[in-house]
Amino acid sequence: MGKRVLKTKLCDMLGIEYPILSAGMGPTLIGEKTGAPVELVVAVSEAGGLGVLGGSAYTVDELQQAIREIKRQTDKPYGVDLLLPKYLDLKGGIGGADATELPLSEVLKTIPQAHQEWIHKIKQEMQLPDVEIMIRRNTTTMFPKESIQVCIDERVPLFCAGLGNPGFMVKDAHAAGMKVLGITGNAKNAKRMADSGVDLLVAQGHEGGGHTGRIGTMVLLPAAIDAAHPVPVLAAGGIGDGRGLAAALAMGCAGVWVGTRFLATDEGGALDINKQKIVQSTDEGTRVSTSYTGKTLRASYNQFHDLWENSRLEPLPFPTQVLISSALLASFIEANKTDFVGGLAGQVSGIIKEIKPAARVLAEMVEEAADIITRKLPESVVVK
Ligand SMILES: Cc1cc2nc3c(=O)[nH]c(=O)nc-3n(C[C@H](O)[C@H](O)[C@H](O)COP(=O)(O)O)c2cc1C
Repeated sequence: MGKRVLKTKLCDMLGIEYPILSAGMGPTLIGEKTGAPVELVVAVSEAGGLGVLGGSAYTVDELQQAIREIKRQTDKPYGVDLLLPKYLDLKGGIGGADATELPLSEVLKTIPQAHQEWIHKIKQEMQLPDVEIMIRRNTTTMFPKESIQVCIDERVPLFCAGLGNPGFMVKDAHAAGMKVLGITGNAKNAKRMADSGVDLLVAQGHEGGGHTGRIGTMVLLPAAIDAAHPVPVLAAGGIGDGRGLAAALAMGCAGVWVGTRFLATDEGGALDINKQKIVQSTDEGTRVSTSYTGKTLRASYNQFHDLWENSRLEPLPFPTQVLISSALLASFIEANKTDFVGGLAGQVSGIIKEIKPAARVLAEMVEEAADIITRKLPESVVVK
């Protein structure tokens, strides 16, 4: 059979063949680089979708190098996802304003005593090794202005803001021929972002991996589409095969933004142990918790979730809680205590059974969705 055609207005807007974007994904813990590296971006864009680089933990220089590497490997459109938190001041304080990297053990001395004591207690009780990791204070997340400028200078075709409203940069981005995408978890925010001038919106439901809101994808999509009209909406949260893609298009979405399914590919940037957790997971295999970053975040269920819950401690505000989760997760990994390890992942893990090349994930998704839309609704569905 020849190649399938499956197009929406999103394809014309972005110059792509299929309305499928691989989501921008950052790392699971301090010390990792990204869940969506250059390899994944190139694979998805070359296969006819649009790959989005997860740039939140890169330095500004690394971001530029990664963008240039993408451009070296493909002439297809691609995107870059950064976090634009409203307020993040980690630049001063310990180590002085100029320090670019600090040992985690030093920074942990600045968190509340009760939290320090808890980490110490867990490490003693479980006889965990000390693992030193370096905290970077010169990442794109801490230098949003400079990072956005790199994207504009490099004329990145699609800029995606994983956190915060990117409306303020739309004018400059458009002047450079770029498009801007915002991400929302509710209808109110969808309207706010649409009004601020973004070109595209991702509506991510509660099912999704990583930071997530309270509203399920099935309810969020029509609400966000209505609120954002006429800005096109992409569906996210729980999409892992052609059935999900077909459903999103049937609901009126212009395309899909797919995280966990593309993370669990040969090119996905997760640690092997985290990819295996996804493949072994059932539909009940993830948890939402503030234990990782201080904001509600969905990850593969593991005993760190229980340890934290039993601690009865208040999570530290985003992103400081990452110091605690990273300190322990790194020690669990080093000690091979895999029951206590789990990366960011969505409920869709339950239908992911195999790690395979990203291009195959995309081709199968297109094939299955095209079949459903053209002729293969289940026989039990009667339509006249
Ligand atoms: C490992 C991982 C890391 C993520 N990091 C980011 C990020 O840095 N920026 C962002 O916009 N979204 C991030 N997300 C959310 C995804 O962009 C996407 O919205 C979500 O994965 C969609 O749901 P799904 O996992 O069910 O496909 C992350 C998701 C995962 C699984």
